[in-house]
Amino acid sequence: APAYENIKVEVVGAKKNVGIIQLYRPKALNALCKPLFVELGKAIKDFDADTSISAIIITGNEKAFAAGADIKEMQNNTYSDNQRAGFLQEWEDVSNCGKPVIAAVNGFALGGGCELAMLCDIIYAGEKAKFGQPEINIGTIPGAGGTQRLPRYVGKSKAMEIVLTGNFIDAHEAEKMGLVSRVFPVDKLLEETIKLAERIGTHSPLIVKMAKQAVNQAYETTLKSGLQFEKSVFYGTFATADRKEGMTAFVEKRPPSFKNE
Ligand code: CAA
Repeated sequence: APAYENIKVEVVGAKKNVGIIQLYRPKALNALCKPLFVELGKAIKDFDADTSISAIIITGNEKAFAAGADIKEMQNNTYSDNQRAGFLQEWEDVSNCGKPVIAAVNGFALGGGCELAMLCDIIYAGEKAKFGQPEINIGTIPGAGGTQRLPRYVGKSKAMEIVLTGNFIDAHEAEKMGLVSRVFPVDKLLEETIKLAERIGTHSPLIVKMAKQAVNQAYETTLKSGLQFEKSVFYGTFATADRKEGMTAFVEKRPPSFKNE
């Protein structure tokens, strides 16, 4: 495995099919500096390409998932620096991953940390998690999807409140709003997230990928063209061996054996 400085990478699960990426800049509350994101992008791409991996978990530590983009790194950036460098463009590596990516959030998920969690497909949280978009406190606005993804999760009024006040919301509020799908005790979060990844890993990876593409389309288009997209992907599953195996196994009353074909 490549030697990383800002993340730790591990493969876990009974079938060794779950990739975990731990953000690892504990002294800076996992502030998301560019070197961290370059490593995160590489780790995600490697897991995405590795056929033994079914799903990927991104996590932090008990104090912080991530406290945002690195304020010290961008403190002296100019507008033209941002334009020239395409500041934060590495973040797209996470949303481009074809496999399910699950955020396991303990502690702070603020600014870019909240945005990174929202780039993931599912968010599980520990009881002490705190979410927020506090960029307004430091004279800027969310820059990695917060103003666009948060309203899609929680609606306009709550998203406006979060973005305009900079106030934090706790894990239970986040669950009630639909930002987070489940909340667990702090020390159970990772094992529950691994169980979720393993459950997804029992299915055909090919069909999981198609299902993810179809759900994601809901955020990109109108209902009518989204439904058309869904229909063609659904029809497309009938071109796969795994669809045939799934239905045959059901009719023969046995567990399916998927081949990713
Ligand atoms: N960038 C860089 N360093 C950060 C950081 C960040 N986003 N968040 C925390 N740190 C550093 C602190 O500077 C501190 O380092 P030093 O000990 O070297 O001074 C260390 O992490 C510990 O932080 P605190 O002492 O502040 O810890 P705390 O427990 O008192 O407070 C906190 C925790 C409320 C999360 C506080 O750290 C905080 O408010 N952090 C910033 C949150 C924020 O504004 N995030 C948005 C960033 S902008 C952004 O993300 C843009 C975008 O949309 C992409």
